[in-house]
Amino acid sequence: MSSNRRRFLRQLGGTAALFTGGTMGAFSMDEEKIHVLQPEKRHMSNDTIRVAGIGMGIMGFGDMRAALKVPGVEIAGVCDLYQGHLDRAKELYGKDLFTTRDFREILQRKDIDAVIIATPDHWHDHISIAAMKAGKHVYCEKPMVQHLDEGHAVIRTQKETGKVMIVGSQGVSSITLAEAKRRIKNGDIGEINLVEAINDRFSSNGAWQYAIPLDASPETVDWEQFLGDAPKRPFDPTRFFRWRNYRDYGTGVAGDLFIHLISAVHHALDSNGPTRIFSSGQLSYWKDGRDVPDVLAAVMDYPKTDQHAAFQMQLRVNFADGSGGSNRTRIVGSEGVIEWGNNKFTLKKQKLPQAEPLGTYDAHINFSEEQKNAYIKWYNEKYSENDRKVFPAEEFKYAAPVGYDQRVDHFANFFQAIRTNGTVVEDPTFGLRAAGPALASNLSYEKKKIVNWDPIAMKLIK
Ligand SMILES: NC(=O)c1ccc[n+]([C@@H]2O[C@H](COP(=O)([O-])OP(=O)(O)OC[C@H]3O[C@@H](n4cnc5c(N)ncnc54)[C@H](O)[C@@H]3O)[C@@H](O)[C@H]2O)c1
Repeated sequence: MSSNRRRFLRQLGGTAALFTGGTMGAFSMDEEKIHVLQPEKRHMSNDTIRVAGIGMGIMGFGDMRAALKVPGVEIAGVCDLYQGHLDRAKELYGKDLFTTRDFREILQRKDIDAVIIATPDHWHDHISIAAMKAGKHVYCEKPMVQHLDEGHAVIRTQKETGKVMIVGSQGVSSITLAEAKRRIKNGDIGEINLVEAINDRFSSNGAWQYAIPLDASPETVDWEQFLGDAPKRPFDPTRFFRWRNYRDYGTGVAGDLFIHLISAVHHALDSNGPTRIFSSGQLSYWKDGRDVPDVLAAVMDYPKTDQHAAFQMQLRVNFADGSGGSNRTRIVGSEGVIEWGNNKFTLKKQKLPQAEPLGTYDAHINFSEEQKNAYIKWYNEKYSENDRKVFPAEEFKYAAPVGYDQRVDHFANFFQAIRTNGTVVEDPTFGLRAAGPALASNLSYEKKKIVNWDPIAMKLIK
């Protein structure tokens, strides 16, 4: 056992998923062999950073909870378009909390340093840009933008304003991903040739049929503000509370789910992204008015770079998987594989021998006696015992400690960059390089064509 590995304690743990929102499959582990990764850094605080949440739904409350776990961070206000969420924020954070339905009122406040944007996707670019221009640091949920052509304006604004902006695929900050990256860079699984992820679900929540509150009405919801740059239409609570199901506001399974894996792989391999994307799917089961597919698969070609070999990424989602649903994420190399679980992974190593031992399933067994013997003689002379040695498979298991939350580490990275005028792990350029292939998957599905993408310039190639 290497000294690096020895320092990991033995204990089982882990909470967050690489593919967030998914019910990860059972991860059977022999506890005796699990190396538990300990977070190296602890978060320091110099002066207080005051944050406001813009978009306080499922993720907005989750993000705020994680942000406030970082020492020296205070909540300074929230903005949401549904009154029930503002009321809930007061229940949780005190009746004096500043609340508003207009994000511009948050941006005008001098006592707010940073904002967490967890609105539907079609608002991400508008609010991020306005916030940075108003002098606020930005934590913006993934995908950074809803449309491919919106990304460069966000990158430009961040550079011009010098504000810190991080995108919220929190898995990038996970200590298990850091360990996987170290092992990949170490060559432990050889040259990567395939990344595959399957996220099959079997529940209405998994298929984005989230609860609609009974008091939803034009009085409790600011519908006009919600629409933003989306096409005008009359008040529709289903569209407001289940916005993911509509292309006007969301980005389908690609922008919602594929993007987590794309972000993690880009980080682990120091990759800029694929050059060719093809996607295909259909709406099979959830015919509830949605206009996005519930079965989608994408294939992406990543070219060889100085950082990694050429590999293929295969991503698939099925929201009506009658088998009960399952999750699988594998990074496959020529000498092993990393299989992801719920903030833990198993690394299996296996190397092909120089020469495969002469087996019973090979053409030589049907050669004439003379030819067969000649062939075996030739083989024995050509290959030494060592060349024929079969290496035993090895397996390592890694897990974060019980209760570990990669989201807290992601926020710590954000706040640390604000305090030190430093950099973040997932800046807008990273954000667009991850959003690009995800959004190109949607384009490929719509146009039924291969989409060519320039991952350096972050542009479609026509
Ligand atoms: N990082 C992750 O693991 C993760 C997981 C889930 C969701 N997300 C992302 O978080 C974002 C929110 O998703 P959710 O599941 O919380 O959705 P949600 O519907 O539960 O919450 C969205 C909230 O935004 C509010 N809102 C809409 N437009 C607004 C505006 N213009 N100004 C202020 N508030 C506005 C709505 O009232 C609603 O409360 C999405 O971008 C989603 O992709 C990320």
